[in-house]
Amino acid sequence: MLEAVFKAFDIKASTSAAIPFGSGLINHTWRIETEEGTFILQRVNEQVFKWPEAIVHNINLTGSYLHHHYPDYLFVMPVKSIYNEEIFFDKETGGYYRLCPFIENSHTIDVVQKPHQAYEAAKQFGKFSRLLSGFDAHQLKITLPNFHNLALRYQQFEEALNNGNLSRIRASQTLIQLVKENKDIVAAFEEIKTNPRFKLRATHHDTKISNVLFDDDEKGMCVIDLDTLMPGYFISDVGDMLRTYLSPFSEEEKDFSKVEIREEYFIAILHAYLGELEDELSDEEKKHFVYAGKFMIYMQALRFLTDHLNDDVYYGSKYEGQNFVRAGNQLMLLQKLMDKEERLCAFVSSFSAERVGAN
Ligand SMILES: Nc1ncnc2c1ncn2[C@@H]1O[C@H](COP(=O)(O)OP(=O)(O)O)[C@@H](O)[C@H]1O
Ligand SMILES: [Mg+2]
Repeated sequence: MLEAVFKAFDIKASTSAAIPFGSGLINHTWRIETEEGTFILQRVNEQVFKWPEAIVHNINLTGSYLHHHYPDYLFVMPVKSIYNEEIFFDKETGGYYRLCPFIENSHTIDVVQKPHQAYEAAKQFGKFSRLLSGFDAHQLKITLPNFHNLALRYQQFEEALNNGNLSRIRASQTLIQLVKENKDIVAAFEEIKTNPRFKLRATHHDTKISNVLFDDDEKGMCVIDLDTLMPGYFISDVGDMLRTYLSPFSEEEKDFSKVEIREEYFIAILHAYLGELEDELSDEEKKHFVYAGKFMIYMQALRFLTDHLNDDVYYGSKYEGQNFVRAGNQLMLLQKLMDKEERLCAFVSSFSAERVGAN
């Protein structure tokens, strides 16, 4: 099936050498061992990314910027096809494919189980943003329109309340109420967008732990998965780390009593990320460090609940009520984060104060 793709990238191996790899949920990923080295082949999920060329544009621009300014930085550059392109459209499967070198002695993890892993990941995402702080983010193309547009997500929630599944709406009143009660999170984001102290930056937008390569000593090597690299605010990157690293259990956990905010993980993310970006972020941005978590957790809760009310048309579901469970889980996480908000904000202020003191 992959014959034309192998030919296009001049891969000198039989197609049976392509072995499904990793636990990514978006793209199809294969690992291919050849005599010329090991590669990662991916079929871009064109249901999600309608403009694969926009991804190529963004990776090329940032890749060459980093190569020029920071030649030692490990950036996974795509391999060009025999047509001199970074992406190949295969007529037979109707898919877009790309190839990049497999980073030797690297591995990824799916669940954050040690504060040190959170530290290493946050350091890599922070470093990536720091190195790109001189890069004009406006040059980047939008690969996923409205991805983190919270106001739009709220509007879609309201539409679901008007047009969604009536029996699900009736049975979801408690969660609906919780979402409405926390609408100030949407208003705060609208303010951020007009606040000149918030910079539009080259933002990764998908800071899950599985998007960081670790070496054999558990040190972070680099970030990967740049499909959602777009102009954005730092709260998207920090927010998704807080959302996915702080709780010992993911959004799939049905027993909400297991959902908690692990402070030592918060401190790890804070120290690693601000350790990289302390001088780059404005005071106003730093003050929103904890808000970043609220923003992403709330948005995810909103999206799960909206989808539940719309009969799971977007996320689908493996069992009845899965998106309802996910929404409830995330609203619990939001509550737990807000319960600790003052304490966590104090960690942020004292980190900055210590650094000022040290200078
Ligand atoms: N250059 C690479 N070197 C080593 N492993 C990689 C590389 N690129 C991707 N991977 C592995 O493949 C997995 C999926 O890739 P990713 O680009 O994150 O796709 P998805 O969008 O599906 O998450 C990663 O979590 C990682 O384990
Ligand atoms: Mg990934």
